[in-house]
Amino acid sequence: MAQTSEGITQAFGAFALALAQGRYYEAHEELEILWYPRRFEDDDEIRFWKGCINAAVSFELIKRGRPFPSRKAWGTYLKYRGCLERLVTPRKELYVRITQTIDQHRSFMMSEFLKAMEFRHACKRFDTQKKIPSEQFDSILEVARLSPSSFGMEPWRLIVVRNPSLRKALKPSCWNQSQIVEASELVIFTTDDDSVRSGTPYVRKMFNRRGLDEEAVNTYMNVYKNYLEPIECDEALLRNWTAKQCYIACANMMTYAATLGIDSCPIEGFDREEIEAILDLDEGRSVALICAFGYRVNPQGEHKRLDPGQIVEYR
Ligand SMILES: Cc1cc2nc3c(=O)[nH]c(=O)nc-3n(C[C@H](O)[C@H](O)[C@H](O)COP(=O)(O)O)c2cc1C
Repeated sequence: MAQTSEGITQAFGAFALALAQGRYYEAHEELEILWYPRRFEDDDEIRFWKGCINAAVSFELIKRGRPFPSRKAWGTYLKYRGCLERLVTPRKELYVRITQTIDQHRSFMMSEFLKAMEFRHACKRFDTQKKIPSEQFDSILEVARLSPSSFGMEPWRLIVVRNPSLRKALKPSCWNQSQIVEASELVIFTTDDDSVRSGTPYVRKMFNRRGLDEEAVNTYMNVYKNYLEPIECDEALLRNWTAKQCYIACANMMTYAATLGIDSCPIEGFDREEIEAILDLDEGRSVALICAFGYRVNPQGEHKRLDPGQIVEYR
């Protein structure tokens, strides 16, 4: 019965029901019974079944709090879902419905944050015709402002480059990367390194705004001085310290932008001194990072990442 057309239809019905009820392990078993005896057949339909089994496995892993390992199983589903296009079978309509159910289920299961993490990729080619609505871009800038910074110094000063001629002038100094001119918005993270040196009025103001009495502010100033002295004695070290803060802000902006369906690309491939000269930055101000925002032209490629075991160790 299992391998008859009716049996296959029934198994997929049971699979869809189990998915809807969150019984992912059982969903996987419903199809495993079909697939296992035929797993060595060179047949797109069998491969499609394997894909669906993997979709159920990926849901089970999310349910068990393991969203990242679940990606591997999801990747297998995506790979075999493609077999459907070539498939000639009276069950095609059923299979299309199944993929719709699976895809909807995944959207429902993934947290908004993880969905954004999956959506974000380093976008290389932006659609020059699509502009980010201004209120959405303002909210991306607001995310930078809300980002954490060491000692709360907010060393970032963002330049949004909208002038097409300026973008064109910057491009050769950015390894000729097309994002510089094609993205809807281009943000240059600069830092005001001199103002964050210990003892400056700026630093005092940043501590003062915490509503502390003078003695407490002086204590903070001292702690800050002790921390920063070995850094600020070297311009490059200071520049790196302030740049590190920008990277945090930029990461937040990119992930947040992804929640709005907006693509991005962080850009470190540039000649810093050339960019600083083009922007005519004051002495003591430097360029940390560039980030392009807009909308992709090409579909996103697969995220290539090391396995968790290669990057995490527990002691
Ligand atoms: C600090 C930083 C600088 C980067 N600079 C560039 C760049 O200049 N040009 C570019 O195309 N991608 C750049 N990338 C993107 C990375 O190459 C990309 O994030 C990485 O290969 C992983 O791919 P994914 O982001 O699409 O998952 C940069 C990423 C980071 C974090």
